[in-house]
Amino acid sequence: MRWRDVGRHLSIRLGVAVQVHAVSRPVAVADLSPGERAQLPSAARRQQEWLLGRAALKKLMDGGDTSGVRFPDRCLSLTHAAGRAVAASCRGGQAGLGVDYEGWHTVDPRTARFFLQEHERDGADLLRLWTVKEALYKATPDNGQVAFLDYGVLRPEALYGAAVDRAGRDFRYASAPVGSGWLTVAVCHGPG
Ligand SMILES: CC(C)(COP(=O)(O)OP(=O)(O)OC[C@H]1O[C@@H](n2cnc3c(N)ncnc32)[C@H](O)[C@@H]1OP(=O)(O)O)[C@@H](O)C(=O)NCCC(=O)NCCS
Repeated sequence: MRWRDVGRHLSIRLGVAVQVHAVSRPVAVADLSPGERAQLPSAARRQQEWLLGRAALKKLMDGGDTSGVRFPDRCLSLTHAAGRAVAASCRGGQAGLGVDYEGWHTVDPRTARFFLQEHERDGADLLRLWTVKEALYKATPDNGQVAFLDYGVLRPEALYGAAVDRAGRDFRYASAPVGSGWLTVAVCHGPG
């Protein structure tokens, strides 16, 4: 799937209008707002990743100041992998939005028990389910004490569907193969 089509595709599957922007060029330090400059990480590698993320966020925010954004956010989410940053946003009454992107790589099946419940481990695509769990986590309000095993995906083999967490919150997620990996967007329908 092409990057330009993925937002529409995922919106249909989520039943919520989602915008997705992927970028591969970081924003220039000179183009940051004073507030953003104050947040610029000092380590060189992290700085590049952060600048890439700000470029993706700015695209969604019409070039605006991102320094007030705090994650998790009800209608914005961000991920970086494989030389890209991907930002997602949606409007509506959702309690949270999460996005995760992973470039193709093998996931050691022995690690599955650390992020998948038992019913989720049968023949599932581990890399895709990893992005599902990450996106669910990012979509969860107040996610400080939440672990990936707290989420149960109802039909793990499906590219889109429903999930619940131990607190009884309802989620929908949708995944798509795009670029050189899997992209998943999740929406938390609350309670918030
Ligand atoms: C926060 C976390 C989701 C980041 O994921 P990652 O795969 O390392 O990196 P990604 O590139 O996909 O996402 C990074 C972005 O997530 C966002 N983010 C950070 N913390 C977040 C949070 N708590 N909720 C939602 N989004 C968050 C940020 O935008 C960050 O980018 P930035 O630092 O450039 O702004 C990761 O640290 C994680 O998986 N935590 C696990 C939490 C867990 O197991 N908790 C158990 C507690 S008991």
